[in-house]
Amino acid sequence: MNKVDVVLGSFYGDEGKGKIIDYLSQNADISVRCTGGNNAGHSIEIDGKKFAFHLIPSGILNKGTTAIIGNGVVVDPKVLIEEMENIKANGYSVENLKISDKAHVIFPYHVQMDKLQEELRKRDKIGTTARGIGPVYCDKFERCGIRMGELVNKKFEKNLRRNIENKNELFKIYNYELIDADEVIKQYNEYADYLKEYVVDTITLMHNAINQDKKILCEGAQATLLDIDFGSYPYVTSSNPTIGGICTGSGIGAKYIGEVYGVLKAYSSRVGEGPYLTEQNNDIGDTIRELGHEYGTTTKRPRRCGWLDLVALKYATMVNGLTGLAINHVDTIGKLDKIKLCVGYKKDEKVTMDFSTDEEYLANCEPIYEEFEGNFGDISNCKTREELPENAKVYLNRIEEIVKVPIKFIGTGAGRENMIVC
Ligand code: IMO
Ligand code: MG
Repeated sequence: MNKVDVVLGSFYGDEGKGKIIDYLSQNADISVRCTGGNNAGHSIEIDGKKFAFHLIPSGILNKGTTAIIGNGVVVDPKVLIEEMENIKANGYSVENLKISDKAHVIFPYHVQMDKLQEELRKRDKIGTTARGIGPVYCDKFERCGIRMGELVNKKFEKNLRRNIENKNELFKIYNYELIDADEVIKQYNEYADYLKEYVVDTITLMHNAINQDKKILCEGAQATLLDIDFGSYPYVTSSNPTIGGICTGSGIGAKYIGEVYGVLKAYSSRVGEGPYLTEQNNDIGDTIRELGHEYGTTTKRPRRCGWLDLVALKYATMVNGLTGLAINHVDTIGKLDKIKLCVGYKKDEKVTMDFSTDEEYLANCEPIYEEFEGNFGDISNCKTREELPENAKVYLNRIEEIVKVPIKFIGTGAGRENMIVC
């Protein structure tokens, strides 16, 4: 491990970042989440026990690892406390959890605003997770947000009252339930008492660790094509889940970063609305969904499924400077007889590898597929890439050949042990 290694999503989220993070964090002194909030859902399976993480870095399950919620994260204290209690109930400790005093806090009006905004978009819905993510980032940038430091030091009442007063004006117009400031203040004072001991200046903490040659793992949430700048705007989340967000969301300078792993699946999926060129809105997509259990960890929504798109992957490689790929669900795709791989787009009768998130551009592109043999059989016990069946090797080699980034991890099943480290 370098001083700081990073794990990022390459497509539309849900690539199985949790699995790679779980493996890498076993050697990390610090595991940090930098962006997003409880719109993320990272599930990992340990000894047959399933854990779903939304906010806390999953590195918390390793005894020696400090888990940090960075300044770029938005925190719903209710969800955070539930997650902490759940970890404790499963026999693990949350002693090593640290929360940035600069992380912004989600309040009930953010969640209600998220729902209202979706309703107002009518037919142009984004399909958000309705967790208040967009509205809390709006407040952060409008400079009226409340941060964890103010929350736990109980210096938030005045600002909160003003915010609630303003939001209620809007809720009144649309006949939404009004937020009761006294009730929210009472509730959040209780959260503050519970969380106070965990809130610190995480930036200093991390830099002290870097100076002591400690290893840091940055756990990306969401993914490249959901990025507010690089994703398919407006069908994106309200943060930068790409490499830049790692720096601004943690306070770690770029010079400390070593490996940047891009996680993907051997096929693709997307939740919510927005363009998706290799989507298979047919029997194939349905089959992939069932085989890969492609239902949301956060919202339980069925995910849209399709083939792997290497044009989009090249784009993710480019904007993040990926140094390695982690490819999950190779076992899943291997259950099909035939597999397709998008190796280019046809646009105006020409072949291109240029990706754009522009809807009009994509509307004029048609995926070009190569077909591969499936039927990989049971690969869950393969421990090296060499041991994989020929069909799997051919498929993976082709991905590497086109994208020109080495595959470093291969997911061969759901369990912690079902992974090849190349
Ligand atoms: P992980 O970390 C998949 C999607 C939502 C919606 C859009 C905006 O599990 O990969 P938001 O609530 O963020 O304002 O919704 O972004 N989205 C995700 N999709 N995985 C995620 O996280 C996601 N986080 C947000 O479905 O389309
Ligand atoms: Mg998810």
